[in-house]
Amino acid sequence: MQNHENPTPKSRVYLDHNATTPHSPALKAKWMEFIEISGNPSSIHQDSRIPKTILRETRQKISDLLSCSPLEIIFNSGASEGNSSVLKSAFNTLKETRNEFLVSQVEHPSIIKTAEYLISQGAVVHFIPVSKSGMIDMNFIRSKLSHKTALVSVMYANNETGTVFPIKEITELAHAQGALMHSDCVQLLGKAEVAFKELGVDYATFSAHKFYGLKGTGFCYVKKSTPWVPLVHGGGQERGRRGGTENVLGLAALNVVLDEIKNCGPKISEMKRLRDLMESKILSDISNVSITAKEGQRLTNTSSLVIDDVDGETLLMSLDLKFYSVSTGAACSSGNPEPSPVLLAMGLTRAEAQSSLRISLGWGTTEEQVVNFVNTLNEVVTKLREINLEEKKKENVG
Ligand SMILES: Cc1ncc(COP(=O)(O)O)c(C=O)c1O
Repeated sequence: MQNHENPTPKSRVYLDHNATTPHSPALKAKWMEFIEISGNPSSIHQDSRIPKTILRETRQKISDLLSCSPLEIIFNSGASEGNSSVLKSAFNTLKETRNEFLVSQVEHPSIIKTAEYLISQGAVVHFIPVSKSGMIDMNFIRSKLSHKTALVSVMYANNETGTVFPIKEITELAHAQGALMHSDCVQLLGKAEVAFKELGVDYATFSAHKFYGLKGTGFCYVKKSTPWVPLVHGGGQERGRRGGTENVLGLAALNVVLDEIKNCGPKISEMKRLRDLMESKILSDISNVSITAKEGQRLTNTSSLVIDDVDGETLLMSLDLKFYSVSTGAACSSGNPEPSPVLLAMGLTRAEAQSSLRISLGWGTTEEQVVNFVNTLNEVVTKLREINLEEKKKENVG
């Protein structure tokens, strides 16, 4: 069915901001200036002056934002490195006395895969279940925490459903047993306004490309006196905590976007208005759609849908042809799309997980884009359902 009120947009509409964000306009404006910076921050001569200043200022801005000491920030390549570093640090330093870990089932693969590696090295990992509404099982945490627990790792918010977890409460439980607490905070900056220090965590991991900065740039918060073992050994950078010449241009870019993060409250509210508008239009215009984890606290930009009788991959590709970038939770490996482990862990059936679509809005998303997107989604879903029906009829006749 054609919808003539909904012309195909002339340029692409990006609705996949939980995967990565576009570079901020302020960063783009500065980029040609940055490309002239080439000195090594560790050198002694004059050419190291600007890179050193960039590192110092960026570190200071992060510590102002997180209300921590600049010494508690370690620059790295992003959250996969940060997450691996945290889990391995806790294991390598505490394994003789505490070798148990609690890790939520819906963590990013950089946590899950590291946890599996730790199991191969002798650690015991308890994977914390979540309910269909996305909530974490606090009783499970209480029952498994003990004097043997080294670390609890629960993300601030889930990248697929947007569910926000009660980190402060979990930290209190972990600390009461003398365990360390880590939170993957990748989906926090630019999407939620939080007094970070109140979360109380010992480790937190961040990635600049999730909040309008560059890929390959990240940082880790490590509370003073918390165990740390470098993942990358090298020339003493980051006070010996992470070897390798620092990503100076990535950090110059981070410096710019951090100024925007400080003032992004109105943008977060606007994303909520548009997300809510989008969801209510979807529910009123398209039949048999449900919103995953709608009941709990969610990031304001994220919407995870289950659209009955439609294959998520096919839907994604059809929307792509109409210039919309969205995502499914599916991890497509070797051409064999598997349903999202996160949605399966939440208790969705394989069929539900395979009919899922994630839409994540950003600072630049407009009302017009959202309304046109829902019209296009309606059109595509209607068409795919008609095709499905036709195929089923043919099968029955055959
Ligand atoms: C929750 C979460 N953690 C970690 C990562 C990995 O971040 P990076 O791309 O910086 O390695 C991602 C990115 O997809 C994520 O969404």
